[in-house]
Amino acid sequence: MVRSAYLFSVAAVAAAISATDGLTSRALTERQDVSAAGNPGWGHGSKKPKVNSKKLQQSIRESALSKKAKELEEAAYSTSQRNRVFSSEGHLNTLDLIEGYLDTVSDYYTYRRQPFEALYSQASGNFSAAETTYTPIIFQYSPSGTATAPLVAVANEGCAAEDYPAEVANNIALIVRGTCDFGLKSSLAGAAGAVGAVIYNNAPGYISGGTLGPPPRPEGEYIPTAGISQENATVLLEALSNGEEVQGVLEVESIIENRTTYNIIADTKGGDKENILVLGGHSDSVYAGPGINDDGSGIIGILETALQLAKYSTKNAIRFAFWSAEEFGLLGSEYYVANLSPEELQKIRLYLNFDMIASPNFIYGLYDGDGSAFNISGPPGSAEAEAFFAKWFKDQGLATTETDFDGRSDYGPFLDAGVPAGGIFTGAEELKTEEEAALFGGEVGVAYDVNYHQAGDNYTNLNFEAFVTNTKAIAAAVAEYGSSFDSLSPRNATATVKARGVHAHPHERRQKAKHVHHTHDCGKAPKVFI
Ligand SMILES: *[C@@H]1O[C@H](CO)[C@@H](O)[C@H](O)[C@H]1NC(C)=O
Ligand SMILES: *[C@@H]1O[C@H](CO)[C@@H](O)[C@H](O)[C@H]1NC(C)=O
Ligand SMILES: *[C@@H]1O[C@H](CO)[C@@H](O)[C@H](O)[C@H]1NC(C)=O
Ligand SMILES: *[C@@H]1O[C@H](CO)[C@@H](O)[C@H](O)[C@H]1NC(C)=O
Ligand SMILES: *[C@@H]1O[C@H](CO)[C@@H](O)[C@H](O)[C@H]1NC(C)=O
Ligand SMILES: *[C@@H]1O[C@H](CO)[C@@H](O)[C@H](O)[C@H]1NC(C)=O
Ligand SMILES: [Zn+2]
Repeated sequence: MVRSAYLFSVAAVAAAISATDGLTSRALTERQDVSAAGNPGWGHGSKKPKVNSKKLQQSIRESALSKKAKELEEAAYSTSQRNRVFSSEGHLNTLDLIEGYLDTVSDYYTYRRQPFEALYSQASGNFSAAETTYTPIIFQYSPSGTATAPLVAVANEGCAAEDYPAEVANNIALIVRGTCDFGLKSSLAGAAGAVGAVIYNNAPGYISGGTLGPPPRPEGEYIPTAGISQENATVLLEALSNGEEVQGVLEVESIIENRTTYNIIADTKGGDKENILVLGGHSDSVYAGPGINDDGSGIIGILETALQLAKYSTKNAIRFAFWSAEEFGLLGSEYYVANLSPEELQKIRLYLNFDMIASPNFIYGLYDGDGSAFNISGPPGSAEAEAFFAKWFKDQGLATTETDFDGRSDYGPFLDAGVPAGGIFTGAEELKTEEEAALFGGEVGVAYDVNYHQAGDNYTNLNFEAFVTNTKAIAAAVAEYGSSFDSLSPRNATATVKARGVHAHPHERRQKAKHVHHTHDCGKAPKVFI
C-alpha cells in the first residue's frame, strides 16, 4: 500500500532493461506457455481432481501462514537494513523465498522473474531556523543539498508561479501544504530560484511522510525539500510578518538512482490461457521496516493459495503476481501492464489485489468495484467481484465494508487498462470508526494498522484471525473463477473506469480520488503527494 491517493503514470521511469522481454534463463516465456497450452480447460488431461472450493478453503491453515510470515520477517531481519525495500538484500531474500516455494510445485507452475528499472530514493536531513532545530520529514525524491539562507513566505498555496515573490530567489521558500502536490511546490520554488523549500502542514501536527513524485517534471527541477508541522511554522511566520529576518539552514542527503528489480509472475501450466484470473500482491516493503502486514500478508496469502491449488485442476488459467517497487508508486505493476500486448491484456478476465490483509485493528474492506460507496467504479466485472466477496463473507456470518477504489495499490494500472478488478483490504493508517468497531470489533479511534510503514510492521503486528479468513476468501475466489467466469460481465476492452457513468481518464480518476480524499481527510490522514 502506497500512501498516496494520487499517482503519476510511471511508465516513463520504468524503462525496459533489454530488447528482449527480459526473462531469466530458468523461466519460460508467455508465448511458450501459450503454445504449449493445447486444448483449453481443466488442466489438459491432468489426473488431478477439479478444484473444490470447500476443500481448497479448508486447506488454508494458520500454521502455514504463520511459518511463512516468520520466514519473511527473517528475510528482512537477517540483513543490516532490517527491511525489504526494493533492490535491498532483504528484498532479494524475499524473491528467493517465494521462488523456493514455487519450486516445490514446479510440475504445476512456470514462473519467471521480470526485470525492470525503477527510480530508488532514500532521503534524510535537518532543518533549523531562528536558532531552533526542528525534526523535519524529507520528501522522497528530494535532491541533496545544503541551503543556508533567509526564509521567504510564499503567497497562497504556492501552486502557481505567481505565488513566488522575487525575494524567494537564493532563499528558502516557506509554503503551506494543500491544493496541489508537494512536487509542484518544490519545482515551482526551484524555478523561482529558491535554494530550498520547507512545506508546513495545513492542520495540526506533522506531515507524516510524503513524496515529490518521480522526476522529471515539466515545471522544473526539484530543490531540497522538507516538511514541518503547522505549529513549527506558526512561530516562523509570525517572525516574518513582524518584518524580522529568519535565517534557515536546510540540509538534505539523498540517494536517487535507477535500480534493477523484479516482479515474479507464476502461471498454472493447466487451464484455459485465453481466460486468466490474475492475483497479485507486492513483494517490497518501505525502508522503515520489514513490512510483514504491508504486504507480507498479501503475498503469503496468495502464495499459500497457489501451493494448495496445486492439488487440483482448474478450467481457467491462474496467474500469481508478486509485484516489486509498489511502495515507490506501483512501479512493478505499471511496468507489467505497460508491457503486455492488447491481446494478452484482453485475456485477463479479472485482477484481484491483496495488499494488507492482516491489519491488527482490522476491517474487512472490499474494493468498491460498483462505486456505491465512493462513486468510483471499475470496468465491468469489478462490481461482480465485489459482490462475490460480499457474499462469501456474509456466508461465513462476517460483516464487510467498502474501501476506496482509488488506485492506491497495484490494481490501479489494471483499472487504467480496462481490466476489471477487486480485492480485500484490512486498513492502513486511517482510524477505526464507531460503526466499524460495531461490525468488526477492535479499537475506535485507533489506526487499522498503527505500525503502517513503521519499524513495528513485523510478525507480531499481524492479526491471524483476519489473515486466515482473508486467505480462505482468496482460495474461494480462485476456486470460483478457476472454474468459471460466467458470473462476470463480458470483458469489454473499450470500457475503462467510470465515475458513475462518466468516462474518466486515469489521471482524472486519480485526481478525483485525490479530491474525494482531500475533502473528507484534510489533516487527518495525510497523503503523500498533496
Ligand atoms: C542531521 O544532524 C545530525 C545531528 O547534528 C547529524 O548527525 C546528521 O548527519 C545530519 N543529517 C544530515 C542529512 O545532514
Ligand atoms: C514542531 O512541531 C511538533 C508538532 O507540533 C512539536 O512536537 C515540536 O515540539 C515542534 N518543534 C519545535 C522545535 O518547536
Ligand atoms: C533513470 O532512467 C531513466 C530512463 O532510462 C532516465 O531517463 C533517468 O535519467 C535515470 N535517472 C537517474 C537518476 O539515473
Ligand atoms: C517487532 O516490532 C516491535 C515494535 O517495534 C518490537 O518491539 C519487536 O522487538 C520487533 N520484533 C523483533 C523480532 O524484532
Ligand atoms: C463496451 O464499453 C463501451 C464504453 O462503455 C460501450 O460503449 C460498449 O457498448 C460496450 N460494449 C459491449 C459489447 O458491452
Ligand atoms: C459521482 O460522480 C459523477 C461524475 O464525476 C458526478 O456527476 C456525480 O455528481 C457524483 N455523485 C455523487 C453522489 O457524488
Ligand atoms: Zn502495500
